[in-house]
Amino acid sequence: MLAASRKWRGEGLALGLVPTMGALHAGHLSLVEQACRENSRVIVSIFVNPIQFGPGEDFERYPRDPERDGELLRTAGVHAVYRPSLAVMYPPGSTTRIHVAGVSEGLEGAARPVHFDGVATVVAKLLSAVEPDRAYFGQKDAQQVAVVKRLVRDLDLPVEIRVCPTVRESDGLALSSRNAYLKPDERRAAVCLSSALRQAAVAYAEGERDPERLRQTLRTRLEIEPLAHVEYAEVVDPRSFTPPGSLAVLAVRVGGTRLIDNHDLSKPFST
Ligand code: PAF
Repeated sequence: MLAASRKWRGEGLALGLVPTMGALHAGHLSLVEQACRENSRVIVSIFVNPIQFGPGEDFERYPRDPERDGELLRTAGVHAVYRPSLAVMYPPGSTTRIHVAGVSEGLEGAARPVHFDGVATVVAKLLSAVEPDRAYFGQKDAQQVAVVKRLVRDLDLPVEIRVCPTVRESDGLALSSRNAYLKPDERRAAVCLSSALRQAAVAYAEGERDPERLRQTLRTRLEIEPLAHVEYAEVVDPRSFTPPGSLAVLAVRVGGTRLIDNHDLSKPFST
């Protein structure tokens, strides 16, 4: 357990953890703000977790800016930043991986086969190091949220998982550290994700419940964008990540950048 956690827990202070991979943006800072409102002490972890990236994915070029991150977190008033080294997280010979069966296997799990085992393993290690009362995740990574909630439930981990709304640019694009990869024409094209979600939410509000027609609404909007290549556009249950349900989930390559987004169609879409 981290020394800071031991001290604060010993003093009876409520402790919040915001796990991140750095390259912080307003989405992360909204998690930090909520954590600061709900806890007496907040720890932010920054660790670009190699085991959640598959071969050929963007581990090496994932944006890293430790100085800017540190400055943003100081200004936000966090009480400690935990930056474990690779050797601390995965000492030589460490081979254990956590597999959350079912919910981690479709959609993102199918497209990125090692991803959720890597996420579940690192989240379990971070929770074990920090022992927070609450841990904060963004709704933007909806399937990650479902995987982490199942992990915590199945392993009886004594932590409350708090989920914060997706933060969007004024045109609807969900904030993501990977948006930094987008070239100007790709950035303009990337609005097709939020636009597709908005159109499906309108159809749902007008009474459309047929999963195939909702899926088609998503695809039709995405496919008119020449720079976009749809990996999946589905409407699923937010806990199982299988149909039927009302959570629209998208993964779309815009140019060379893979973007994900989601929206609960039973709610109006707003930026
Ligand atoms: O969402 C992220 O930034 C990462 O997947 C997480 C939860 C920090 C685990 O590496």
